[in-house]
Amino acid sequence: MQRLIFTNDVAAQLAGIVAEIAPNRVYILTDSNTEAIGNELNTFGAKMITIQPGDEHKDLHSLADIWSELSLSGATRRSLLINVGGGMITDIGGFAAASFKRGIRFINVPTTLLGAVDAAVGGKTGVNFLHFKNEIGAFAAADAVIISTRYFSTLPAAELRSGFAEMLKHGLISSADTYRRLLAFDIVDADLDALLPLLEENVGVKRRIVEIDPREQGLRKALNLGHTAGHAFESLAMERQAPVPHGFAVAHGLLVEMVIAHLLEGFPSAELQIFAALLREAYAPAPAITCDDYPRLLDLMSHDKKNVSADKINFTLLSEPGTPLIDRTADTDTIKTALDLYRTLLNI
Ligand SMILES: NC(=O)c1ccc[n+]([C@@H]2O[C@H](COP(=O)([O-])OP(=O)(O)OC[C@H]3O[C@@H](n4cnc5c(N)ncnc54)[C@H](O)[C@@H]3O)[C@@H](O)[C@H]2O)c1
Ligand SMILES: [Zn+2]
Repeated sequence: MQRLIFTNDVAAQLAGIVAEIAPNRVYILTDSNTEAIGNELNTFGAKMITIQPGDEHKDLHSLADIWSELSLSGATRRSLLINVGGGMITDIGGFAAASFKRGIRFINVPTTLLGAVDAAVGGKTGVNFLHFKNEIGAFAAADAVIISTRYFSTLPAAELRSGFAEMLKHGLISSADTYRRLLAFDIVDADLDALLPLLEENVGVKRRIVEIDPREQGLRKALNLGHTAGHAFESLAMERQAPVPHGFAVAHGLLVEMVIAHLLEGFPSAELQIFAALLREAYAPAPAITCDDYPRLLDLMSHDKKNVSADKINFTLLSEPGTPLIDRTADTDTIKTALDLYRTLLNI
């Protein structure tokens, strides 16, 4: 089982685990933005490997650089790689570790909220290839994930909110109480100490789901909540050359899918108003869409999930906060109605 440690004393915890594992060589992987954090944590003489930041560098080129550094410095099966960074670093570092000499141990120290709540936990690793995200990869669990909120103080505000959208999603698919606690948290003026226990509870949601369904055959699909519509917003923004942070697209995708759930599964209308208010406060501006964008959005949604017929799109829905419904479908008329209602809720 993957060890998850929540602490604001990362250096001491990390040194303890490294001593326990007793590897013959230790490496710390960072990007140039997290290199200083890596250096600060390096109390045990690890060799630093630093790559360029940004998802466009989560590619074979950077991967080959990491493999080369490991190979040429004599890393073996008994060596350890510590990934210190956002999801980009834990994804590529996890895959480098999973593939080097058929697999060496690795530890993740996420430094972004999205990394902590999503990417660093759950065993999906990989790189982008051709024009496809995460096209090449492997399921491989870190030996340990050490999670702290202290590094988030240097994150741009939008990145923090983006990660918080995934926390809201975890609340919505797990428990009404968890979801309410998140709604009560002020992510616009965030208290990072108060965020740590919420994060611990939240990462627990993902961990439980992944343990039950590691290969995404059933329950893990609940984690797609907000992502069918969210990915469509994300892709549309990209096509318009005005990209939005992933979590902003997901936050708006969550409202669209809540409206679909309202239409098909009786999800309460009062909840729609509450979530719309949060979007107006923390996830503005809303995507600038009109009815003319519906065909493209529907097209993007139908390509997001495989094995659906042309006029039915697969969604994870909710009957109420805390109760996910996987493998549901909505037809295009329902989705168009939902997009109309979504725009009305946000005055778009
Ligand atoms: N494996 C999974 O299950 C999973 C889940 C979700 C997302 N992901 C992947 O995660 C990536 C997105 O994660 P991300 O948003 O963390 O991206 P990222 O790692 O690219 O980080 C975003 C930016 O913040 C910088 N940064 C990192 N930590 C910082 C800090 N403490 N202070 C200031 N700047 C900092 C990074 O250098 C980068 O420029 C994508 O590649 C996505 O595919 C994977
Ligand atoms: Zn996501």
